[in-house]
Amino acid sequence: MCGIFGYIGKRDALPFIVEGLKKLEYRGYDSAGVATLKDARLFLQKCQGKIADLERLLLRKPIDGNIGIGHTRWATHGKPSDENSHPHSDCSEKIAVVHNGIIENYLHLRRELAERGHRFSSVTDTEVIAHLIEEELNIKGTDLEHAVSRALKKLHGSFALAILYEGEKDKIVVARRGSPLIVGVAENETFVSSDIPAILKYTSRVIYLKDNEIAIITQDDISLKNLDGDTVKKEISFISWDPESAEKGGYTHFMLKEIHEQPKAIRDTIKDRIKLDSCQVHFDELNLTEEEIRNINRVVFTACGTSWHAGLAGEYIMEKFVNIPTEVEYAAEFRYRNPIIDENTLVIAITQSGETADTLGAVLEAKSQNAKVISICNVVGSSIARDSHGVIYTCAGPEIGVASTKAFTTQLAVIYLLCLHMGQVRGIINRNEAEEMIKELMAIPQKIEDLLQSEDEVAQIAEKYFHANNALFLGRGKGFPIALEGALKLKEISYIHAEGYPAAEMKHGPIALIDKNMPVVVLALLGRRYEKILGNIEEVNARGGNVIAIATKGDNEIKEKAQDVIYIPPTSSDLSTILAVIPLQLFAYYIAVKRGCHVDQPRNLAKSVTVE
Ligand code: G6P
Repeated sequence: MCGIFGYIGKRDALPFIVEGLKKLEYRGYDSAGVATLKDARLFLQKCQGKIADLERLLLRKPIDGNIGIGHTRWATHGKPSDENSHPHSDCSEKIAVVHNGIIENYLHLRRELAERGHRFSSVTDTEVIAHLIEEELNIKGTDLEHAVSRALKKLHGSFALAILYEGEKDKIVVARRGSPLIVGVAENETFVSSDIPAILKYTSRVIYLKDNEIAIITQDDISLKNLDGDTVKKEISFISWDPESAEKGGYTHFMLKEIHEQPKAIRDTIKDRIKLDSCQVHFDELNLTEEEIRNINRVVFTACGTSWHAGLAGEYIMEKFVNIPTEVEYAAEFRYRNPIIDENTLVIAITQSGETADTLGAVLEAKSQNAKVISICNVVGSSIARDSHGVIYTCAGPEIGVASTKAFTTQLAVIYLLCLHMGQVRGIINRNEAEEMIKELMAIPQKIEDLLQSEDEVAQIAEKYFHANNALFLGRGKGFPIALEGALKLKEISYIHAEGYPAAEMKHGPIALIDKNMPVVVLALLGRRYEKILGNIEEVNARGGNVIAIATKGDNEIKEKAQDVIYIPPTSSDLSTILAVIPLQLFAYYIAVKRGCHVDQPRNLAKSVTVE
């Protein structure tokens, strides 16, 4: 949801900002803008459209300076337009503000400001911030940082902000509450960014701003304060991600690269956590004692989007291996539902970004009710990771494509390891079983590599169906979350209406939609539910539907029942989720490419949803 990038140093700020915004474009891409300071004057350019449109504008109307801020927008208040693009200014046009988040009381503030004579040039919530700062600066003797902290005390809602002011020519002031913002510390220059990949090329040393903190950044110094003006200790963290991991590396799209990175991502996620000699699992920052694990009487997975599907898959194996009643809740529902939880409830928040507003809200709600909260998260030091009692990091590396792929499969791998660990502690899984489970998990990366060999076949099948307007995805048991995820991938990036259903539920509604134009993707893996799923395939066939089956290698019978078959290598049913989702990711990808869609930045979506 909106990307912020800022630069202060000895070099020209603009190339850094434009490059940074391109890296953040996955967060929002309906308009963009920049502001710079030069010779104590503020320069500002912005327009509706993508960063490429902004670049064209800057060629016609160049601006420069060694200090600047930029923004790529995902509209919340006000449609995408030149006027609603950031940066926003005050009446005197001496202040520039870029913002990510939502100011909930903006209407009230705007009314008051208008009554006091302020003129507004946009309909955004953000613009009130510029005018509030303007008022504070009009009070004699107030400098920018004090004006900002006073203005921020009047705001309700969430924000990450970067601010320039003509009256202070060597300064960027940034602040956050609820929305992410980091400060990248390099030699003689400092960067501000909404996310790590955008600054990886320049530095691995970052300061994570905490809620209600302000950073005052000048050419020579970075200082942190709270809203009362007290100095806050600076903590510099080191990011271990390789700068190359934020580049496309020869692939046409980040999504395709990230699909192919899954074997490595899973290897990296599991390798240091498995003790082969004792067949045990170890997590560094889980922060959950064996006694606490034994006392848990209820588990709640909570998440949004694809991460929620990982939780749904987790429910099956948590109940099977750990024997604890388990629920899966959409974070936005959980947080406002008055959930009945206590200190013996384990809440597991799953999130790639670690910044999703609803998931963060669910974590805080669970903590306020004394539940033990751990997160499964891909971004070290992110808000959710910090706010949980314990964290297990997925080691997927930066995921840039808006449609999540490698984050999902690494989440599944972590949930499997966590269940193995908890099952052993609770005496449900014995050593032999643990050994077998570990062996199966360690074989998964190679099996994904084998599976990716059939990429061309999936592309050919996609070619047959790319004209479809609707698609149905069916699965039973652990195939059900994967059916949901397959449908989500397809609708996200190809805009084909797709629904995932438990296969048995098809007859209670979706069956009415089936005709020759409707591809029906069926998770038909060998196992306990195989015969039942064959029955569902027959039902689709009897109504003239086209079945694409995801089947287990070696199953020849399925070929007679489905128009198209994509095989995955055999594995245990508990790990089949990881393998089965990969052809569905590829299927969605190739259909989207064939339809000419913008795969990495699908319309209306954002990678990191930091508003409710
Ligand atoms: C957005 C993204 C999805 C993601 C979801 C949850 O909708 O487009 O890919 O699954 O947010 O994000 P999180 O970072 O919490 O996993």
